[in-house]
Amino acid sequence: MISIQNLNKVYDSNLIALAEISLEIQSGEIFALLGPNGAGKTTLISSICGLTRQTSGFIKVSGFDTIKNYKKTRSLIGLVPQEFPLENYESVIETVKFTRGLFGKTPDADYIEKTLKSLKLWEKRNTPIIALSGGMKRRVLIAKALSHKPKILFLDEPTSGVDVQLRKEMWDLIIDLRKDGVTVILTTHYIKEAEIIADRVGILNRGKLLLVEEKKGLIKKFGKKIVSVELREKLHTVPKKLSKEKISVSEDKNSIFFEVSNSDNKMGISNTLKMIAETGLSIKDIHTSESSLEDIFLEIIADEERH
Ligand SMILES: Nc1ncnc2c1ncn2[C@@H]1O[C@H](COP(=O)(O)OP(=O)(O)O)[C@@H](O)[C@H]1O
Ligand SMILES: [Mg+2]
Repeated sequence: MISIQNLNKVYDSNLIALAEISLEIQSGEIFALLGPNGAGKTTLISSICGLTRQTSGFIKVSGFDTIKNYKKTRSLIGLVPQEFPLENYESVIETVKFTRGLFGKTPDADYIEKTLKSLKLWEKRNTPIIALSGGMKRRVLIAKALSHKPKILFLDEPTSGVDVQLRKEMWDLIIDLRKDGVTVILTTHYIKEAEIIADRVGILNRGKLLLVEEKKGLIKKFGKKIVSVELREKLHTVPKKLSKEKISVSEDKNSIFFEVSNSDNKMGISNTLKMIAETGLSIKDIHTSESSLEDIFLEIIADEERH
């Protein structure tokens, strides 16, 4: 659906906002572009939407070049921008109809009704936007972005500064959109968000795409388990036999712990546990905890900064 080749963007200030980005996005997937503030997420979206012109490289949307065929590619895209440009006295339905008109599409009352209903805005259709709650305003932005029936929807930080309840509503909504066959690309700096709704995750940092992975693959490839072994007696130093293993003593001296990466073979845990038992330490209990996408993300970024 989207094909990006060797994309570079250098702003006037000589700031490299995007460096050699290549990326393919499939039809019908939810793709999360994850990165800290200033990573280049908005610049990448703006380039695909044709709002910013890349310094070099190519972007194709459904096979059409975003510069040569701007009108065509823009018509396939709906964009929910990061900033709120909504401050008006128009009614919900009028503003959505108007946006559709901007794309040169003929009115389609049934489609607008369906869209407003799916966004739970139908009851509010005649309310002026200025009188809506923050969450409703966000949904109006989505309705506007969907008004011309785009195949692709971009959501730039859809849940930044939004409360927990609203965030959950937004996730459900995005998942529903995919059911309708819309390809969704969202940016976020909330790792949890990517973990919950995305099919694939791309990690962007300082203009570079560090990796692109299926979400499941990411956790499998980079995830770690921490195995914590609770002891019956306090331990002050790790027994000599175990000193070669990467085993540490907890702060309260009641347990020892070690890391096993998900990509290691399963013998990792049982071998280490066997070794611990052989030293004569008396084991009271064993706990494991798995690293989240957040830990993985921080590690990948930290690793990149070291290079
Ligand atoms: N119009 C602009 N002119 C100059 N620099 C910009 C402009 N827009 C963004 N930048 C810079 O480009 C980098 C990436 O910004 P942005 O794409 O907004 O990142 P993100 O959306 O990931 O927070 C930042 O360092 C930002 O300051
Ligand atoms: Mg941004």
